[in-house]
Formats: sequence, C-alpha cells, structure tokens
Amino acid sequence: MSVLIKGGTVVTADQTLRTDILCVDGKIQQIAEAIDKPGQCEEIDAGGQYIMPGGIDPHTHMQLPFMGTVASEDFFTGTAAGLAGGTTMIIDFVIPGPQQNLMEAYHQWREWAQKAVADYSFHVAVTWWDDSVHRDMGTLVREHGVNSFKHFMAYKGAIMIDDEIMVSSFSRALELGAVPTVHAENGELVFRLQNDLFSRGITGPEGHPLSRPPEVEGEAANRAIRIAEVLNVPVYIVHVSARQALEAVTRARNEGQRVFGEVLAGHLLIDDSVYLDTDWGRAAAHVMSPPFRPKEHQAALWRGLQSGNLQTTATDHCCFCFDQKAMGREDFRKIPNGTGGVENRMEVLWHHGVNTGRLTMNEFVRVTSTNAAQIFNIYPRKGSITVGADADLVVWDPEASKTISAKTHHHNVDFNIFEGMTVKGCASHTISNGKVVYADGKLKVEKGAGNYVNRPPYAPFYDAVQKQSRAKAPTPVNR
Ligand code: URP
Ligand code: ZN
Ligand code: ZN
Repeated sequence: MSVLIKGGTVVTADQTLRTDILCVDGKIQQIAEAIDKPGQCEEIDAGGQYIMPGGIDPHTHMQLPFMGTVASEDFFTGTAAGLAGGTTMIIDFVIPGPQQNLMEAYHQWREWAQKAVADYSFHVAVTWWDDSVHRDMGTLVREHGVNSFKHFMAYKGAIMIDDEIMVSSFSRALELGAVPTVHAENGELVFRLQNDLFSRGITGPEGHPLSRPPEVEGEAANRAIRIAEVLNVPVYIVHVSARQALEAVTRARNEGQRVFGEVLAGHLLIDDSVYLDTDWGRAAAHVMSPPFRPKEHQAALWRGLQSGNLQTTATDHCCFCFDQKAMGREDFRKIPNGTGGVENRMEVLWHHGVNTGRLTMNEFVRVTSTNAAQIFNIYPRKGSITVGADADLVVWDPEASKTISAKTHHHNVDFNIFEGMTVKGCASHTISNGKVVYADGKLKVEKGAGNYVNRPPYAPFYDAVQKQSRAKAPTPVNR
C-alpha cells in the first residue's frame, strides 16, 4: 500500500521545504522534489498546503474510570476524533486504583486500547507504594516499553500520593531511566478549600476554581520540581495552567534543571468566566483540574510556549456527558473532572498560535509533535518527516476554515469547550501508518489499526543529568 503526497510544502520542526513524499508499507520511503507515481498508489494533491508530522497528544484519558463514572470517549472514538484533527498518536494513562497491581492495570488498559484506530502508548500512574510497585515499574520499563510514570498530587482519598511515595517513585524512575510526570496541585489544600466552600453554601460549579486557586498549583509544581532536583531526576509537569506553576518551571530551567512543562489547548484559550455561566450544565461541562484561569494566566502560558519553557501541548482529553456531570448537581465536589479536545488541539493552536504570529509554523510542529516525541523518546520514528519514520502525517490546508461545534465534532461527548470558535487552518488529509484515514471531512478508519508504541528508557536526558551530577559532586580529598 503506498501513498504519494505531491505538490505540498513540508514543514518540520526545523525546515520548510517544497517537496513530495512517498509512503510505502506504513513508512516514509522517499522525500524528493518530484516523485513519479508508482503503480497501485493513492495520490494526494497537496498544492497550496503544508505537510507536517502528525500531532502527538501526550495527555489523554480514553474511557477512564474516574469519580464514580467512566469517560464517555473510548479508544476507538477518541483516536478517530484525533485523526480528524491531524493527531496521529496519543499517550494515554494507565491509572491503577488504590492498591491495584500495576501490571494488572497495565494489561487492562492494553486490552481497552485494542480498538484504537491510531497509534498509542501509556504513561503508568503510581498511585500507591509497596515492593510490588517498585518491581513492576522495572518490568514495565524493561519489558513493556513504558518510560514515564505519573504522579497525582491531588484527588485526596482516591489517587493522590504523598511526598514519601513521590520520593520513592522518582528515585525508582531515576534507576530505570524513566521520566516522572506530575499533576501538580496541593491535594490537601484543595480538600480543605472544597469543604470550607461547601459548608459556606457554595455548591455549584463556581466553587470548583475557588477550591483550586493558582497558588495551590504553584506550590505543588515547585515541590515536585525541588524533589526532582534533590534526587537529580528529570521531571515533566502536566497541564501547567497557572503563572505560578510556569514560574516554578522557568526558574528551575534557568538554573539548568531538566524540567519539562506541558500546556493544554484549553488553558491557553478559555478563562474562568465559564464557571459563572447561569446554565448549570454549561458551567459544569468546564469542570476540569486544574480549572480554567483568569485571563492573565493565558497570556503567561502563551509566553511560556513562545519562550520554550513549555515544550508540549496536550488536551487532557477526558470527556463526560451532561448526564455524567449531573452527578454533581447538588455538590460541585462530585462533578466528574474532565473536558475534551483531542480533535481540536491542532486547529485551535494553528489559528491562535500561527495565524496570530505567536508561533512560527516550525514552532507549531515542535509543540504539537516533535517535542513530545523527543521527550518521550520515540523520535525520529514519530514527530519527524524522515526516510524510515512512521508515515504519520497531516496535510494542512491553511485556507480552510470551520466553526467548532459539538453538533459536528467527532468526539463522543455532547459538549465542546471550543463551541462556536471559528478557526482558519485545518487538516485536509491525515495519514496514519501510511494509510489515508481522513480526507475531505470523512474518516476512513479501521478498528484496531492503531499500534502500541514502545518507548525505550530515557537515555539522552539521563546521560546529561548524570554528567551534571558528577560535575557537581565534591572532589574526594586524600588524607
Ligand atoms: O480534570 C481532569 N484533568 N481530569 C482528568 C484527570 C487529570 O487530572 O488529569
Ligand atoms: Zn491531571
Ligand atoms: Zn489528565
């Protein structure tokens, strides 16, 4: 099976070049100025369009069992929606319940993901600790292609961990060459503030952001980063939403620490006024953690992305329908936390990033694909356009425009946080593993066509971190 993309301009993290691309058997086989069409080959006319590495969303939660329900989007519908927006790979999360064996949870998620139509991989959350967790982390890295572990500093009484577990798990990650990732919110403070607000009669969605102010995120981000500093392990902070957390990331990076920051498309574009919507359902539909912030945080986050202090963009795609959100009708603490966007991430970032001049096209590729591939050690197989790389590509029409709506999106949820937003610049074709899976507004996907992507341990950053630690160590003195 081959696909020839002709007449387009290739845009990668470091180049913009007029050239054709030939994909054969799932890989990029040839990149050249004028490629003749072989027999039995599908041709895409990409004249006037850009060809970029398919997007990688490093933070999704398909069919996550969470807060007494299960996310409505599964691995089939979720990866298909991603393809419709040019995202060809997701990194989802295995989240073991308290005391659940890590391997059991990992195999459970692998089974759920069998129906994925695009490639996927898993971060595995460490939600508790004993010798078996220590052992299973090793098995996951050495035998199952997992090179990142997630730590929730919030969600007290469920998946939150304390500093003792974080220290144990970060140390183990260091031994294994894996990267710890962190949901940074001080869960004790959130718990206290939630209960205070509720006892004062604040029961609606407006209580959600009040219970999770930016300082709560800043404190936790700084704590996780300082713990990583002492242990000399790289750390990746997911969904940085507040200036205070970004400052913690920036400060550490300025000090030479190997810290990475991810920002969500939603946090860049939506502010906290959504929680004051007089329609309870619409306000509740925006309940996610960390919450949407006052506008000044968005400006800071854009600057973080532009300066390179934030390297990746994600969605934290975790969908709950109105009837699921209604579980918290009388009590905001019970509204399932999560919002969607896997289909829209690339187009809203293009529109508000590239069209406004905040990002160059090459920077757009970095923050939507290449940086995630490099940080999670799947580059250049993913995130690049090079001979031998996976043929995961998006053909991007910079002149096409659309208005985002839950009525027309491919997400399996009845709400869209970007509802009514008109964007200019969209995917016209998506190629996944060398097959055209989205063209001219139509999906042509095959259940189960997605592959699990092994991510080997984290050599480049660990080498650097370890060299630095040797350089810092005091020289022994002979007496
Ligand atoms: O509200 C969110 N973000 N739900 C999904 C779980 C998480 O915190 O990432
Ligand atoms: Zn989170
Ligand atoms: Zn998440």
